[in-house]
Amino acid sequence: MEPTTYIWMNGRLVAWEEATVHVLSHGLHYGTGVFEGIRAYETDRGAAIFRLTDHMERLVRGAKALGIPLTWSVDDLVKAAKELFAANGLRSGYVRPLVFYGTGSMGLNPAGASVEAIIAAWEWGAYLGEEGLRNGITVGVSSWRRISHEALLPNAKATGAYVNSVLAKQEALAAGYDEAILLNAEGHIAEGSGENLFLVRDGVVSTPPVAAGCLEGITAHTVRTLLVEDGYEVVERNLTRTDLYYADELFFTGTAAEVTPIREVDRRPVGLGEPGPVTRRAQELFMATATGRLGRHEEWLDFV
Ligand SMILES: Cc1ncc(COP(=O)(O)O)c(C=O)c1O
Repeated sequence: MEPTTYIWMNGRLVAWEEATVHVLSHGLHYGTGVFEGIRAYETDRGAAIFRLTDHMERLVRGAKALGIPLTWSVDDLVKAAKELFAANGLRSGYVRPLVFYGTGSMGLNPAGASVEAIIAAWEWGAYLGEEGLRNGITVGVSSWRRISHEALLPNAKATGAYVNSVLAKQEALAAGYDEAILLNAEGHIAEGSGENLFLVRDGVVSTPPVAAGCLEGITAHTVRTLLVEDGYEVVERNLTRTDLYYADELFFTGTAAEVTPIREVDRRPVGLGEPGPVTRRAQELFMATATGRLGRHEEWLDFV
């Protein structure tokens, strides 16, 4: 990661290397925070942050779910992200907002701890590699189950909950896969370690429901909307491991992963072992939208 000049911290732009926190921050010990991941793309009208308001709304919803008393509004955070992006002179890249409890309490009860908010932005290429975007990645079903709705909030980007994703990612890489797919406790497909999953069989596109333990992905919503507008049938349903093996196409969606084809699952080729036509169409539609070339859904572009 290449450092940029500034990080927005509690309302001001501070130098990248000075954006530090105290070692007794509550969030550092107990994972009490929420974060976002957002991408900005170069368009012919300058940099546009993709679905910035939707991401900040999800951040604020997550903070509410965790009971974090955030004083910054969605509008404040949208403004701050744009100001930071411009100050760093970026044309495209990644934006990382984070809200967490700081110092003031070392017990589990965070009452009395400060609430800290930061936004960082930097240049970032393909999360699963350019080669992965072109030819597809390999995935393995993880031995780790996706966190359940009974224990945590899978539909919130809560920092502590990401230990689950980290374990699955490390296991997948150690086994020689590029990425993991996590099942939930019932054996239904939840998602990747940081991506939503889509499956194509006989021309129908399926994706697991939020109740299965996935994040309500903004890229997933984008891709579903675009595919439906393009005439595809997209259904939300519980999927099993067998469905993965029988699929004609599989792909991941996510802010970091964008639309990444999956060419192999548990060492079995997906379809013909190369990205299929629906995956390619989803990639094209997504990139055209995010870079302002589609001519529709300009409401999703927040120009810096
Ligand atoms: C666990 C998890 N699932 C799915 C996604 C994809 O969500 P989005 O498309 O909103 O980035 C992410 C990334 O934010 C994630 O961390």
